[in-house]
Amino acid sequence: MNRVHVPVLAGELIELTAPAPGDTVVDCTFGAGGHARLIADRIGPSGTLICIDRDPAAEEHFEELAREVACETRFLRMDYAEGLALLREEGVSADVVYLDLGISSMQVDARERGFSYSYDAPLDMRMDPGQQLDAREIVNTWDERQLAQLFRRLGEDPNANRIAREIVRRRERAPIQTTGELVAAIEGALPAAVRRSFGGGSPAKRVFQAIRIAVNSELDSLDRALPLAWELLRGNGRLAAISFHSLEDRRVKRFLAERARGCVCPPDFPVCVCGREPEAELIGRAVVPTAGEMADNPRAKSGRLRAARKLREAA
Ligand SMILES: C[S@@+](CC[C@H](N)C(=O)[O-])C[C@H]1O[C@@H](n2cnc3c(N)ncnc32)[C@H](O)[C@@H]1O
Repeated sequence: MNRVHVPVLAGELIELTAPAPGDTVVDCTFGAGGHARLIADRIGPSGTLICIDRDPAAEEHFEELAREVACETRFLRMDYAEGLALLREEGVSADVVYLDLGISSMQVDARERGFSYSYDAPLDMRMDPGQQLDAREIVNTWDERQLAQLFRRLGEDPNANRIAREIVRRRERAPIQTTGELVAAIEGALPAAVRRSFGGGSPAKRVFQAIRIAVNSELDSLDRALPLAWELLRGNGRLAAISFHSLEDRRVKRFLAERARGCVCPPDFPVCVCGREPEAELIGRAVVPTAGEMADNPRAKSGRLRAARKLREAA
């Protein structure tokens, strides 16, 4: 039985985005709807909640929520960047758009989906089971240089080269089919002293993260989604994102900071000639979970929430 996902930084998300009765809110990463449920309570019967997720399992949770909440609801089963583009085409405007990035507990705990290095399962890791590229293809067809680059760039793994070399060596004998075989290859690539340095942690964590991000084009979706989400917002609308690693957080931070920036004239110009006005006001600094939340929900540990308010709609 899969545990239902416990929403991370939920109270903080509500506080920063301040959904009000009658608002239109877009949840880009519905999951089990933990955040969405809290939002629905705030926007009430005159509000509209649009939920996006590319995982069919999320749609089942959505159907349950739609029966229970008073607001108008809608679900788009697609990549959130595509969902936001579709809403824009339809002329939808939103008061709040938020993303809760990464994977849900249901995805990690569904052993057969191959997201976890803790269970032996077919190498898969697709959030959308209808898409072609899966982890097995990456592990068995990318060349050694591509794999090393992937583990370095998206996993920030200092052992990237060794691990890539060992994967290629093993797959020459037989394709790597399961998460267990991949974990064995990763462990086999590392000298005992390096393996011991992980203590209770797994040396496979970073590699699994990197492969998952690549399988699901996570950073590319985020890069496409942020400007679309921003465009969808009305004046005074709020955009928020909860990220779980620095690659995501850096993108969110840069995107919001860029919008909150005013004049870009060189400091020695006596007067402003660029005329640039900030489009956004940052809503505080990044928020991280309290010690209590981390103790109750260890998956919250690396969560980081950032939010900004749109000062005015584009002319
Ligand atoms: C961390 S979970 C969200 C949990 C949710 N906030 C809750 O309270 O239950 C992230 C969800 O986003 C979905 N997701 C991730 N990237 C996506 C993308 N590019 N497009 C659509 N859904 C995506 C995943 O399938 C997963 O269900």
